[in-house]
Amino acid sequence: MSAVIDQLGRPLGTLRISVTDRCNLRCRYCMPEEEYTWLPRSSLLTFEEITRLATTFAQLGVHTIRLTGGEPLLRRDLDQLVHSLVRVAGIHDVALTTNGLLLAGHAERLRAAGLHRVTVSLDTLRPERMAEFARSAHHADALAGIAAAQAAGFEHTKLNTVVVRGFNDDELVALARFAHERGIEPRFIEYMDVGGATGWRSDLVFDRTAILERLSAAFGPATPESKHADPHAPATRYRFANGLVVGIIASTTAPFCRDCDRARLTADGMYYRCLYAQDGFDLRRPLREGAGVVEVEQLIRTSWGERRDRGAEERTELADRGVLVQLEGLKADPRKEMHVRGG
Ligand code: GTP
Ligand code: 5AD
Ligand code: SF4
Repeated sequence: MSAVIDQLGRPLGTLRISVTDRCNLRCRYCMPEEEYTWLPRSSLLTFEEITRLATTFAQLGVHTIRLTGGEPLLRRDLDQLVHSLVRVAGIHDVALTTNGLLLAGHAERLRAAGLHRVTVSLDTLRPERMAEFARSAHHADALAGIAAAQAAGFEHTKLNTVVVRGFNDDELVALARFAHERGIEPRFIEYMDVGGATGWRSDLVFDRTAILERLSAAFGPATPESKHADPHAPATRYRFANGLVVGIIASTTAPFCRDCDRARLTADGMYYRCLYAQDGFDLRRPLREGAGVVEVEQLIRTSWGERRDRGAEERTELADRGVLVQLEGLKADPRKEMHVRGG
């Protein structure tokens, strides 16, 4: 089998696997509602099924896997899945994106299982803000999770902050310092109008220019780093004179669709070719109906070969940009939610 290229010349390289749609936070930009329709437990892929699919994706060119959710550490024994995935031929990078609340209890086992990298989401250094913004009183657990990841020996750890105007844009400098002091790379993410973000408004977006201005006021001018090392990375990295390197993910105002090499797998086995895609492909059914590897491989190969998605770029072309999917639409198809699709 060989690698596949889509209609815009983009290879298949990264697979984001959502292992659960559940989350122990309710971040306003992601899961702001009271009630959600959860995927039925029986529909969740087993670790064996996930590993089988990852093996097929790897045969088509996937080399990097990122485990996401919801909150991936809510999936029991996640280290066992990591243990299997790092052994899949062709996969040389397995990373985890987590909100960190449960990380302190899992960091060592994940490291021992062979997990390569961890990215922790932290939007504020102030517990009272997290209580209001994400309805959680567990800010200290997130900090403990970050410390535990470092104690366990993880390197190239990143801190993800979604910047929402009027909520945390006054903390960019403090968050950058917090990460830099710990040898962690801070990353600032523009608030995206993804499915699930039912409170999205363009005036809440604190864009890349504004982020850089804020950081430059404290750290001096920034120089962009070349994307040469990883042309498919969503973040552009900026270096400051004091050695601080900050990643900015400008998916809302300057999307990276042209270089997007990522496929997504939901916890119940739907495969999507774009974060914004309306429709996906059910891989669980053929898997459970006993289809052979070749059949599933053919489905992925053909669909990736036909891929033309530029979801985030198309959003920027809209004259009147608002919420992507209204609440009723999300209720009808929960896989349009960011927390189901994998952030
Ligand atoms: P590395 O480059 O390996 O560090 O991973 P990553 O940056 O892809 O992973 P992470 O889970 O940290 O994602 C960071 C942010 O990028 C997410 O919060 C999303 O907002 C955004 N993002 C991730 N995948 C996509 C995608 O396919 N399309 C767009 N437009 N944005 C994405
Ligand atoms: N805009 C930008 N990033 C988002 N995430 C979730 N919802 C949004 C949104 N509306 C991010 C999380 C996490 C990653 C997995 O997805 O903050 O860093
Ligand atoms: Fe927040 Fe991530 Fe949970 Fe969404 S999935 S509510 S971004 S912690």
